[in-house]
Amino acid sequence: METPKKIFLPDEESTKKLGKEFAQKLTPNSVLLLQGNLGAGKTTFIQGLGEGLGISEPIVSPTFTLINEYLEGKIPLYHIDLYRLNPEQVKHLHLQNYWEGIEVEAGITAIEWSDLLPQLPPHYWQIILELTPDSSRNAFITYI
Ligand SMILES: Nc1ncnc2c1ncn2[C@@H]1O[C@H](COP(=O)(O)OP(=O)(O)O)[C@@H](O)[C@H]1O
Ligand SMILES: [Mg+2]
Repeated sequence: METPKKIFLPDEESTKKLGKEFAQKLTPNSVLLLQGNLGAGKTTFIQGLGEGLGISEPIVSPTFTLINEYLEGKIPLYHIDLYRLNPEQVKHLHLQNYWEGIEVEAGITAIEWSDLLPQLPPHYWQIILELTPDSSRNAFITYI
């Protein structure tokens, strides 16, 4: 495991830009596990990612819908938010189908509140977003 890469994000635009640039290095079957408090910038990062994948449909928080699938970009994007669920409910979603490509087209799976996953994928990008005292953000990125 490499040491996390720390990136300072002074404003919303830089969080989006990080996501947009990140999209360029992702291949189908990539998994991004996003951690960080409410308002840390997880959805914002994924909005940038969507832009980088060429998705024109607005990326909205899946807090209520749980899973949003975007199929128009160069790689499908599966955006998941586990915030309102408990571990037992998460287990029943069979999210491993996304990264194993079972009955779905191989794509990028991005999961907010991934701490609730009962089972981790074999490899993933861990993206931790942290609020700084001056209301900017830090990102810590590790490939595991
Ligand atoms: N680097 C940043 N600096 C300041 N504000 C940011 C930054 N990144 C995102 N934001 C803002 O933080 C708010 C919450 O972001 P959001 O992505 O919805 O958080 P989360 O999905 O982690 O709950 C949004 O208003 C967004 O514009
Ligand atoms: Mg969110």
